[in-house]
Amino acid sequence: MVYINRNIRLPNCSFFLLGPRNVGKSTWLKNVLPNAKYFDLLESSLYFELLQNPDDLEAMIGTASPDTWVIIDEIQKVPALLNEVHRLIENKGWRFVLCGSSARKIRRGGVNLLGGRAIMCNLESFSSSELRELFDLEFSMEWGTLPVVALNLMSPPEFLNSYFETYIKEEIKEEGLVRALPPFIRFVNIAGLLNGQSINAQNISRDAMISRTTVDSYFSVLTDTLLGYFLPAYQPKLKVREQTHPKFYWFDSGVARAASGLLFEPLDRLWKGTALETLIFHELRVYNEMSKRNRPIYFYKTTSGSEIDFVIENRKQRPNSKAHITCIEVKLSEKWNRKWEKPARSLDNHKGIYVDKMIGIYLGKREYHFDKFEVYPVATFLQKLHKKGIF
Ligand SMILES: Nc1ncnc2c1ncn2[C@@H]1O[C@H](COP(=O)(O)OP(=O)(O)OP(=O)(O)O)[C@@H](O)[C@H]1O
Ligand SMILES: [Mg+2]
Repeated sequence: MVYINRNIRLPNCSFFLLGPRNVGKSTWLKNVLPNAKYFDLLESSLYFELLQNPDDLEAMIGTASPDTWVIIDEIQKVPALLNEVHRLIENKGWRFVLCGSSARKIRRGGVNLLGGRAIMCNLESFSSSELRELFDLEFSMEWGTLPVVALNLMSPPEFLNSYFETYIKEEIKEEGLVRALPPFIRFVNIAGLLNGQSINAQNISRDAMISRTTVDSYFSVLTDTLLGYFLPAYQPKLKVREQTHPKFYWFDSGVARAASGLLFEPLDRLWKGTALETLIFHELRVYNEMSKRNRPIYFYKTTSGSEIDFVIENRKQRPNSKAHITCIEVKLSEKWNRKWEKPARSLDNHKGIYVDKMIGIYLGKREYHFDKFEVYPVATFLQKLHKKGIF
């Protein structure tokens, strides 16, 4: 098997490693910590033993020296183990990796998240900077970049189809995250089709025939299991309550396609445009996490209704200093049209805002620099981003 190096850096203290199913969490851990003590709660005899007697964990680790790494995979299956882990970090100095796909189960177990003794790390699908020469833009827009898909280990539509069924079955049903499956599945289909759009819970509630509060709780199941992210609307003024609905993006365009039931149908332009935005948002999140920039990311809707796909807040507005932002506009087009610069330029003239960079990304081959507005082919943009050249 070819092993693709991940950009995530191994922390030197205990950490949670969370991420959707199949993004490569276990593979990465086995690769960077080959000598760690490894406990996989998918093994049923181990699972039942630790479920009944969490304190057996200490005896299983035995006389290992301080600083020994201990990996507990699928930790969400026995959240009560975290109390034990907490004690063992304190008393033994062992370093734990707590790996899982659902932050929800862990939080809901009523467990303290180790009171700051462990940091949080997220893993996602492959980014272009990990795939390097294996990265194929057209293919990634169609099928996403989950390892099995990107490395062509299985046929993408068949794999994504079963990925989705497994997710619904294991994650949602067996872990009891929702009470009834059929309405959740109706909801997921709709949420798949709404990838990259402003979310109006009222409309979804009507279309999926579920209550408003159920829509909200289903979205939180998707975000807690790291399958999707809300992108809030940027508000240029201080102390203004949010008026525009946030957008919702799935973490991976292949998974969005599976959710909406479009795996075996040809894609239209609208879908491809959203898939390109989904991919860019993924790259921005991965870079934000790896570089520890942790910048808030938004979209922006002008008063006339046109949009900027991504607004990165480099510095917040304060009473006597301007906000600093980077604007990014993504276009599924081989030709750049200068009217697309307008929404970003309107923000540049906004009181209280300083635009550090205005960037256009498109499918063309040429790079342009128009009066503070930079236009890049997708590949050039991605290289610049991961070399810290964007924010
Ligand atoms: N870095 C990598 N290089 C090559 N192949 C990989 C890599 N990471 C993952 N894979 C492939 O993807 C598959 C899924 O990865 P893995 O089981 O590590 O995911 P996971 O995040 O632990 O999933 P789960 O949440 O279901 O446990 C692996 O079996 C392997 O084939
Ligand atoms: Mg795993």
